[in-house]
Amino acid sequence: MDLSVSLGKVRLKNPIIISAGEHARDAETILRVASFGPGAITTKTITNTAIPDPHPCYAVFKGGFLNCMMGAVLNADQWFKNELPRASQAGVPIIANLAGTNPEETAELAIRAVEAGASMIELPTHCPHLAENLEEQFPGLKIPPPEINDPQPLYETVKAVRKAVSVPIIVKLSPIFHMSVLSWVKAGIDGGMDAVEVADALGPVMMIDIETGQPKLGGPRGFGGLSGQSLKPLTMAMTFQIAQNFDIPVIGCGGVETWKDAVEYFMAGASMVATYTVGHIKGPEAYSRIIKGLEEYLAQRNLSLEDIKGLAQRKVKERRQRNWHEITKGIPPVVLEEKCTACGICKTSCIYDAIEIDQYAMIDQERCYGCNLCVEVCPQQAIKSQYFV
Ligand SMILES: Cc1cc2nc3c(=O)[nH]c(=O)nc-3n(C[C@H](O)[C@H](O)[C@H](O)COP(=O)(O)O)c2cc1C
Repeated sequence: MDLSVSLGKVRLKNPIIISAGEHARDAETILRVASFGPGAITTKTITNTAIPDPHPCYAVFKGGFLNCMMGAVLNADQWFKNELPRASQAGVPIIANLAGTNPEETAELAIRAVEAGASMIELPTHCPHLAENLEEQFPGLKIPPPEINDPQPLYETVKAVRKAVSVPIIVKLSPIFHMSVLSWVKAGIDGGMDAVEVADALGPVMMIDIETGQPKLGGPRGFGGLSGQSLKPLTMAMTFQIAQNFDIPVIGCGGVETWKDAVEYFMAGASMVATYTVGHIKGPEAYSRIIKGLEEYLAQRNLSLEDIKGLAQRKVKERRQRNWHEITKGIPPVVLEEKCTACGICKTSCIYDAIEIDQYAMIDQERCYGCNLCVEVCPQQAIKSQYFV
């Protein structure tokens, strides 16, 4: 099955991109990860002066991952002289993720990255824990607070990079922009970007070890960025909003752990999907499983990527046409008696006391609020929603 997609003149054999992280920390890791079949691989953020990471670097909780990484441990000279020329032999397009201290420096980095073999450029926007860690490492260095309200500097940077290189430019937004995401996308488009990725890790966030009282991550306050599953509902809504308002390829990123997550992003309107945390924790085989699962899902249903792309956008339009956009009266779901095992999970979570268990779950039509929580929690998919049918 053909899963290939294009971004400008760059052809990706499938729409699954490895997002910036430790799986692209040097040429060796890029070459290894390439063998797991992704459509493209994004480098760690390359800067002229490499900044050591605060330690410890990671913390986990159910559904989420915290990190306080600073960018590539190798500096730009090492990347452009050794790593990128070698990595570009992988047979997979390499996206160079770059950050200069001003638009001109970023443009200069972009020129050198393309000369060294990068097929595309990615520009990150906001790192949640960067400034305070930089200040610790370079005392006296005056760092302006990360720009979170004004998209103008982003516009200037994209414009400078656009002037400098002709390869596709991806702007990687931060999830903290979610309330004003459209103005950030507009700034990127006005500057000349070719695609937008949503999103980077969300922060600042922290976790504390209750045995010692120590913040779990290193650095002055143990602040970091959140990635993984818990990010997905936020970045999904950002993806949806952008696709609804702009005709620009969106790369959905945040919590893609399985092919199902990827399908969800495509339905929201994404043209491609990027993933990282799942491979970091479960190994790069996780990336192959996402690609294979997506392929099987489409093949079994005789669908193409284009068929599912933006399906949720079309459904939202349909809600209005059918007057489904403001249903305020609950409709009780239906129990599929042959599937129900009478486990009682639905009853426990029914806050309206509308479920009794006998041979199977029975829903009291008067008490039922029509909230659909029982549909969501049933492990057997034995309760069927009656909305939108
Ligand atoms: C350990 C780690 C390192 C990361 N390093 C970078 C980086 O150097 N540059 C960048 O733009 N994003 C970086 N990210 C963010 C990811 O590329 C990605 O946007 C984010 O983790 C959300 O996707 P995920 O939930 O699939 O991991 C990093 C994330 C993690 C967990």
